[in-house]
Amino acid sequence: MLPLRECVLQTPGYVPGEQPLTNDYIKLNTNENPYPPPPEIFEALQVELSKVRLYPDPVSTQLRKAAARVFGVNIENLIAGNGSDDILNIAIRTFVNPGEAIAFLDLTYSLYDTLAKIHGASVIEIPTNENFELGEPIICPKAKLIFIASPNPPVGKHVNREYLEKTCANATAIVVIDEAYVDFSQENHLDFLQKYENVIITRTMSKSYSLAGMRVGFGIASQPLIEQMNKVRDSYNLNRMSQAIATAAFESHTYFQNIWQKVCQTRNRLLLSLRDLDFFVFDSESNFVLASPQWISAAELYSQLKERKILVRYFKHPRISNYVRISIGTDEEIDRALEAITEIKTQ
Ligand SMILES: Cc1ncc(COP(=O)(O)O)c(C=O)c1O
Repeated sequence: MLPLRECVLQTPGYVPGEQPLTNDYIKLNTNENPYPPPPEIFEALQVELSKVRLYPDPVSTQLRKAAARVFGVNIENLIAGNGSDDILNIAIRTFVNPGEAIAFLDLTYSLYDTLAKIHGASVIEIPTNENFELGEPIICPKAKLIFIASPNPPVGKHVNREYLEKTCANATAIVVIDEAYVDFSQENHLDFLQKYENVIITRTMSKSYSLAGMRVGFGIASQPLIEQMNKVRDSYNLNRMSQAIATAAFESHTYFQNIWQKVCQTRNRLLLSLRDLDFFVFDSESNFVLASPQWISAAELYSQLKERKILVRYFKHPRISNYVRISIGTDEEIDRALEAITEIKTQ
């Protein structure tokens, strides 16, 4: 018998969206940014390549400085991660003992569940209403950590601000507000940091900064929390290429702001076009939409789109098994997807 941990054995593990090894798909399945970052951010790469024999800066100083400027916080309030997934993981290992409870919405980013379970934590699922939204503030005295994504996938809308604030104000737990999609929306929760010492906001450069492949994310929180999280972090958690490219990306803030605007325009057009094609579609404040075709099963639509080399995301979860999640592509990609859907509908 291998000496395995029971909690790991019992967990199926996180299932990421497909990453095909060929380039012949229109990829609308993992909420990546369809636009590349500006080429000048790669100029920093040559210098870093000449230094690969040296370890990178363990605390990502230049990157945190750049991020602090853009987020309007102090560098002491920032921890950088190998993607924001790294920060979620660090938060669990810093604040939760195995056997203690972690709470999150019953429909949200599924990695929270996986990370909690492989840590040996118990899970408390907070029920959402028929629109998959939080219907009241969370009161969960048993939880040590509460994860709330806002905007929350798979719908992509912000959690009600008043409920979220009351949750932070009343919680004895640490509350992680995961703002992975916030740049595609009109609001954020950075102001909560001034009021609540138990709040951590996470951000990622995977979506709005077109750097999913570089794996860069952040935790923003009060200094006492950051101090503890730093002890748990892998000592060199960000490689030097990622640090340099991500730092340079923050210099191109205006370029990215234009992209966010473009993505939001395309999203709103897709949303209306899908409704015209007889889909039920939730409004979205993210770079994806959750849509339910009223004339074909979502599973069948997913397969037929895949046959046409268009990848969208289909989840087997019973509450959303008749929905597909479509990430926002370029205008041309979305036109191709809409043409394919029209063809499937009329065949
Ligand atoms: C809500 C949410 N948080 C975090 C992430 C992961 O971000 P990163 O690429 O920074 O690890 C995702 C990715 O899909 C997400 O949907």
